[in-house]
Amino acid sequence: MTPDDLYKKSIDMILENQHPSGGYVASPTFPTYNYCWFRDGAYIAHAMDLAGELESADQFHDWAANNILRRQEQLDQVCCLVDEGREIPEELHLHTRYTLDGNEGNMEWENFQLDGLGTWLWSLGEHLKCREIPLPADRVKLSDAMADKVSRWKKAAALVISYLKRIWALPCYDLWEENRNGIHIYTLSSIYGGLKSGGQFLEVSTGEVCEKIKDRILKRGVVEGHLSKFEGSSLVDGSLIGVSIPYGVFELDEPLMRATAVKIEEDLLRAGGVHRYRGDTYYGGGIWILLRGWLALYQLEMGDRNAAEEALLWMCGQADSEGHLPEQVSDDLLDSEMLQGWIDKWGDSASPLLWSHAVYIWLYNKLKFN
Ligand code: BGC
Repeated sequence: MTPDDLYKKSIDMILENQHPSGGYVASPTFPTYNYCWFRDGAYIAHAMDLAGELESADQFHDWAANNILRRQEQLDQVCCLVDEGREIPEELHLHTRYTLDGNEGNMEWENFQLDGLGTWLWSLGEHLKCREIPLPADRVKLSDAMADKVSRWKKAAALVISYLKRIWALPCYDLWEENRNGIHIYTLSSIYGGLKSGGQFLEVSTGEVCEKIKDRILKRGVVEGHLSKFEGSSLVDGSLIGVSIPYGVFELDEPLMRATAVKIEEDLLRAGGVHRYRGDTYYGGGIWILLRGWLALYQLEMGDRNAAEEALLWMCGQADSEGHLPEQVSDDLLDSEMLQGWIDKWGDSASPLLWSHAVYIWLYNKLKFN
């Protein structure tokens, strides 16, 4: 399959796997991922914006907003508990994923993850720019149907902003759904990006809390000149590119960001792909398609077009004959003994993974059209 064919295939695949509710299934063939995550969905919606499929992105934002609004009472309760200085029972927090029709799944899961909500706010902000709804949305003439949608998105975004403003510093699972007690630099960054973008959309002030988040990252999230995976860790994580693209906590060429990208290349770029972090054992700790694309977005912005083109070809080469991109490939396993256990538990690693296709669309788009 050529890179052009895979681009078209990726768009079709995402459209085919969008539920009438607007939710995108993370992977249609991997039962454990038959859910819509805020995180995966928000990145997928962004890819659809870039591909010009704005209605698909509209629908996803509706899915997200409806699910948040349905749980308004729960969110209000968390905010009250924080304001009263009381403990928050874990079950009051929003989940990281819901079924496509918006229910809590009945499977045990690491539900408390805050990054997906930050990613959703950021993705919504980008979507509004694509929709050419200049900010603030109130002052433009919208069709009734669009005005209705924007008003739902605004209400949901306002709830999420007041929730995140209060609890951004709580330890929670990271984007890999691990390490419950950590404070993760990627998570803090996605909240920063989401609050910045959501603050503009709603014209509410989020600048002060964003400064606090940035300050905290600088004080506790730096080790030996690069960003760390979580506070107290000396490792890097492939997702740390997100600190800069898309969340903009630091400029791309800031020494701290450069050093982080170099460290990711040194420690995690292997056999063409990128590991999540050293010591990963999930499906034996393979190399991830979407992480290669993410690093390539950074390389491209920094002027290394060759590296980005090579990455696109590598990603494309990982597609099977039907054009399905997996989550990870096992060409360079960090812990090969752990692979079979996962296969026995959940089956072969997820493929197609819609988030892998989303990052492919993103990189392709930047390479071809920018
Ligand atoms: C990853 C998550 C992702 C989920 C669905 C998990 O294995 O760790 O980041 O959201 O799969 O794709």
